Amino acid sequence: TMYAAVAVLGGYLIGSLSFAVIISRLMGLSDPRTYGSGNPGATNVLRSGNRKAAALTLVFDALKGYVPVVLVLLYGERFGLGEGAAAVVGLAAFIGHLFPVFFRFQGGKGVATAAGVLLGINPWLGLATLLTWLIIAVFFRYSSLASIIAAVFAPFYQLLIWGAGPVLGAILFMSLLLIWRHAPNIRKLIAGQESKIGQRAAPPA
Ligand code: G3P
Repeated sequence: TMYAAVAVLGGYLIGSLSFAVIISRLMGLSDPRTYGSGNPGATNVLRSGNRKAAALTLVFDALKGYVPVVLVLLYGERFGLGEGAAAVVGLAAFIGHLFPVFFRFQGGKGVATAAGVLLGINPWLGLATLLTWLIIAVFFRYSSLASIIAAVFAPFYQLLIWGAGPVLGAILFMSLLLIWRHAPNIRKLIAGQESKIGQRAAPPA
């Protein structure tokens, strides 16, 4: 429908706000695309040493996944938009983060945004996935590894909570894209060259 198209476009545009870049710029820090992994995400902003900038990036990148989903869940019904549509709008925000129209389509890996989407779809789904991330992060100290494992588990949690359906399809697709975006991290993990959480990056030249 018309409404679905507008909602998906809105989700994509909100997702395209690359908060790692925006917040770093507002705080007068160097562009996260110029140091560390070069990824515009909270993990990489933390490599600058600025915890506040990293935390703000995490929160705003998560909100841009959470808010569109919750808006559709709250107000979608009168436009014929249900749970499936909410999940697809979340997926659109996630895709916006990966391929932002405002940043030459060069975005991040979508971890924080995916977490926001999952929390919006179902708080328990979000919390179970966040807990999975946390356990791996605490034990192994690799943000990327924690994200990949959490992305593997999320569809299973959804399947357990609600079973198969369009929401599961959207989550599966999100997980596949997220893991694909971590290909460089997977190579580094295998080579033993991945940086641990909070490890500072060499300042940009
Ligand atoms: O937040 C994305 C994380 O999983 C990996 O980021 O900078 O280590 O490639 P990064």
